[in-house]
Amino acid sequence: MEFYRETWVEVNLNAIGLNTKQLKAHIPDETQIMAIVKADAYGHGAYPVAFEALSSGATWLGVALLDEALSLRQKGIKAPILVLGWTRPADIAIAAEHNISLTVFQAEWIKQAREQYQSQMPVFLHIKCDTGMGRIGIRETEEMDALADAFRADPRFIVEGIFTHFATADENDPTYFNKQYQRFTTMLTQLMDRGINPNLVHCANSAAALKHPDKLFNMVRYGIAMYGLSPSEQMKSDLPFQLQQAFSLKTSLVHVKQIEAGESVSYGATFTATEPTWIGTLPIGYADGWLRRLAGHATVLVKGKRFPIVGRICMDQMMIQLDAPYPLGEEVTLIGSSGNEYVSIDEISGYLGTINYEVPCMINHRVPRLYFKNDERIAISNPIIDSASILEEKDELDKKLD
Ligand SMILES: Cc1ncc(COP(=O)(O)O)c(C=O)c1O
Repeated sequence: MEFYRETWVEVNLNAIGLNTKQLKAHIPDETQIMAIVKADAYGHGAYPVAFEALSSGATWLGVALLDEALSLRQKGIKAPILVLGWTRPADIAIAAEHNISLTVFQAEWIKQAREQYQSQMPVFLHIKCDTGMGRIGIRETEEMDALADAFRADPRFIVEGIFTHFATADENDPTYFNKQYQRFTTMLTQLMDRGINPNLVHCANSAAALKHPDKLFNMVRYGIAMYGLSPSEQMKSDLPFQLQQAFSLKTSLVHVKQIEAGESVSYGATFTATEPTWIGTLPIGYADGWLRRLAGHATVLVKGKRFPIVGRICMDQMMIQLDAPYPLGEEVTLIGSSGNEYVSIDEISGYLGTINYEVPCMINHRVPRLYFKNDERIAISNPIIDSASILEEKDELDKKLD
């Protein structure tokens, strides 16, 4: 597998490993780590991140979709996986076949699942409690009664875990967090009173795991901090250990020229040089996820120096202003370090008025991911070429086009 463009993401797997090991040392020995690798590991690449996290102390993986779990199984991951979102009842057979645990919070779901499920293989489930996130989960004791009845009626359905999700664990004010935590402990007791007593109980995301190592039950779901990013701006100054960002975004100069005073650059001719100016062209644009709104805010690094983006960002290219005629092929860093300069993901999310979670997710599959360990490139993922090679109707298409 190779890639044929001059723009790429570098994922430092050592950083993922270090961030995981540091959390492991921070939490009680008996608390397991579920590495959250949904959304292609927040844009980093699910398989390599899962592999590294499991090698560094994580014992579970969490994804949002059954498809994401199946993709990890296809690649040979054997560790337990939980699908955190809603799954179609009709799809439990494929989950059970691949030993994938699912989230449940509706008695009607179990009823439908029971009707459609023909196998005797056990189906492992985690009950989701809505303690204040207001997204998915049971809230009322009537729902607990209905779930408990449904489980009693069918021993193929096994409650493996109970969990909830915090809405404000990353904020300074603990009031809402405490309310959710209290509600969760009450719901746990109420579920146990109904004979539901699973092995796994988990509530903490990264923020809660970092801030409250005494409130984790026996598993944490570790997402953003595993990627080396602070769960919020508020938490940045008070992290229990240093996080190392794993994600860098790089490109290189594919064209360099000098324009005269009065000449303009890019759509709308919004940038006009006031003196002879060196302009570099970079093969990255908004179709890669490098959004137009970054122009006028983000700067890029060349040989450890910051240079501004000039003119509008195009679909596949953008221009920067240089201080000299740098050679073609010179590496340009959009996120990450160059010399003594550093562009953090937080800097980019600040320009976009969003959270750091969104930035690696928005750099899409058009940008190949290169995986580094001990400064050595160990793997490449390039879905553009991957997906072309699995086109089933390829032969027929070839014939038609001939
Ligand atoms: C249910 C659930 N658990 C855990 C996480 C991980 O959260 P974080 O990335 O803040 O650690 C998420 C992420 O959104 C989630 O939805």
